[in-house]
Amino acid sequence: MRNLLADARLEDPCPPTLPPFSLTAEVTPVRRRRILFVTSELTDFVKAGGLGDVSAALPRALLAEHDIRVLLPGYRQVLKGAVACRVVGHLPGQAALPPCDIGELQLADGLRVYVVICPELYDREGTPYGDDAGNEWPDNHIRFARLSLAAADMAAGLATPGWCPDLLHVNDWPSALAPAYMAWRGQATPSVLTIHNLGYQGACPLGSCAELGLPEHAGLPESMEFYGKLSFLKAGINHASHITTVSETYAREITGEAFGCGLQGVLAQRRREGRLSGITHGIDASWDARSDPHLVARFDARRLQGKRRNAEYVERSFGLLPGRGPLFAVVSRLVQQKGIDLTLAIADRMVEAGGRLVAIGRGEPPLERAMAQLAERYPGRVGVRIGFDETEARRIYAASDFLLMPSRYEPCGLSQMYAQRLGSLPIARCTGGLADTIVDGVTGLLFREGDPDSYFEAVQRALNIHRYPELLNAMRCKAMEAPQYWSKAVRPYTRLYRDLLAELPVSVRR
Ligand code: ADP
Ligand code: GLC
Repeated sequence: MRNLLADARLEDPCPPTLPPFSLTAEVTPVRRRRILFVTSELTDFVKAGGLGDVSAALPRALLAEHDIRVLLPGYRQVLKGAVACRVVGHLPGQAALPPCDIGELQLADGLRVYVVICPELYDREGTPYGDDAGNEWPDNHIRFARLSLAAADMAAGLATPGWCPDLLHVNDWPSALAPAYMAWRGQATPSVLTIHNLGYQGACPLGSCAELGLPEHAGLPESMEFYGKLSFLKAGINHASHITTVSETYAREITGEAFGCGLQGVLAQRRREGRLSGITHGIDASWDARSDPHLVARFDARRLQGKRRNAEYVERSFGLLPGRGPLFAVVSRLVQQKGIDLTLAIADRMVEAGGRLVAIGRGEPPLERAMAQLAERYPGRVGVRIGFDETEARRIYAASDFLLMPSRYEPCGLSQMYAQRLGSLPIARCTGGLADTIVDGVTGLLFREGDPDSYFEAVQRALNIHRYPELLNAMRCKAMEAPQYWSKAVRPYTRLYRDLLAELPVSVRR
């Protein structure tokens, strides 16, 4: 096994690229800081959930102030979709991590994306994390260590001559090893780890240290050991310069036992040190009922006929009978986190009360089966599609009266913001980003306890509101105006980057 520490490259390999010298300007030219945004999903090519959307929108919103570029694994969808990808660098293998090429492509709107090209790890049919049947790839630790090491190598100037980042922004466990690789090699590049979901930590056997090319002390609790395994996410928490998570409430919640997934101790410590903060997401401008080309008909808060036409489409497409009661919707990964079992538990009562339900989702096979059985039990009242379809999802938000989000925990949640924009009021558990982005009784309905009765009380409130069209419309108007676009929501990131880069000693600035 090669020693990572021996590979350290601390000299400055990339001279700064400054804007052309201006004869008239007296100010010292300052170049935009280079940020490498490392992610395992990018909606332009591949999306499993909200991370894909955030990775597509946040760097674009930051482009005005930063030279920010994205690093992504070269999945089959990326290689197929990226016609003009040119190879700009090569990285050697390390332990069981195969060598890879770094490709570069520029998307139509100017966003630059680097791609880790390593077909044996990424060129597969399926999602970023597993096959189409929902089984995770057994070599995910290798696949995402490869991504993380490529990021650390780029920060060391090894892969992309002429461009090396001033700061790494890594996301969730798949890229969380990058700050650790950098720390073990003594690289000073600052890093931000954004935790989108503490429930997924990237655990692998303690004995994987050698395969991953990690120093032996990586297996210690103060590094990445976690209950007898190696945790990629813990490595990021221990080695990143700063940790953000995706809403203010979730940032508080994860420092306690109920939501901390066993990492609450170290997270509380980071919070005390001022190194853990919550930054609530925005949404991108494509979520606009007046212009979204995915919709069957466009509408706005004051002219809702178009919303009705989307509802007629969804009724037809999901085999629902027209009804006087509200149309409830589920657009979700079908996993424990999302409280799908709670929706199943109240479905009978909801239908008896005159509600209809439309659902699209995929995820854990038992939940997929239970949802499909619900549709069989209530033909014409419940329509379910197991699958992932962006256009249908947008039409369902636009068609429905209420979106159901009884999540057990929800770091931020984008679906409730999309629903609000498209005039569907979220009914959601008061937790994480749901608590921060829904105003109870104004833009949606919140309930506190995670049991079917509390949930059904909120559904009853919705049924009551639905009987008063003026009240429903007033709430819709508020909801459609409520979610922030990314253009505003990026400001805390800009401040954070600035602070971290300002702390950097001048000698290591590039
Ligand atoms: P999470 O990332 O936990 O899944 P978010 O609410 O942040 O939750 O983001 C979910 C994203 O995935 C939203 O863009 C939502 O519209 C989308 N989505 C979820 N399920 C489906 C589906 N079956 N088909 C299409 N889009 C879906
Ligand atoms: C995660 C969370 C979700 C969040 C998304 C994007 O998957 O479950 O709450 O909105 O990531 O940050």
